[in-house]
Amino acid sequence: MRENRRKKKLIRIRNTRQAFYECIDDLVKHPLVVQMKKYPQHGNTNCYRHCLHVAYYNYRICARMGLRAREAARAGMLHDMFLYDWHTYARETGSRFHGLKHPGRVLKVVQGSFSLSELEKDMILKHMWPLTPVPPRYAESYIICLVDKYCSTCETIERFWKKSR
Ligand SMILES: [Fe+2]
Ligand SMILES: [Fe+2]
Repeated sequence: MRENRRKKKLIRIRNTRQAFYECIDDLVKHPLVVQMKKYPQHGNTNCYRHCLHVAYYNYRICARMGLRAREAARAGMLHDMFLYDWHTYARETGSRFHGLKHPGRVLKVVQGSFSLSELEKDMILKHMWPLTPVPPRYAESYIICLVDKYCSTCETIERFWKKSR
């Protein structure tokens, strides 16, 4: 009985992951998206891995809530595609306030290479809210705000946790 339940749970997880990867299949192979692997994000995580985390939790939460999970996954995969190392960017270019400015920069990069829905644009542009002042327009955009902060915190803590072991 317990073994059956465990098997069913594993199948459900595998199906969810498969459905999630189908949503972002074209994105993860795109050369611009792959470039994110070169740039560090929080802790020991690179931008690609961070975006993958955000995309996955966006997808799970939105699917569970009956929201637009496919677009939420895609916006999550692209939301931090600024393509520079933000740790040294201000020193090298003199442009400060990465936290405030990068959503707009990302949207410019992404719009040049992918066709985006209004929802995906809003999710990318507002994902740093309330640090950026204009609030999201859609429920999915509020979800990415929370998921991004949750993943960033976990990735940062993971680094210190690994260091202390
Ligand atoms: Fe961001
Ligand atoms: Fe992020």
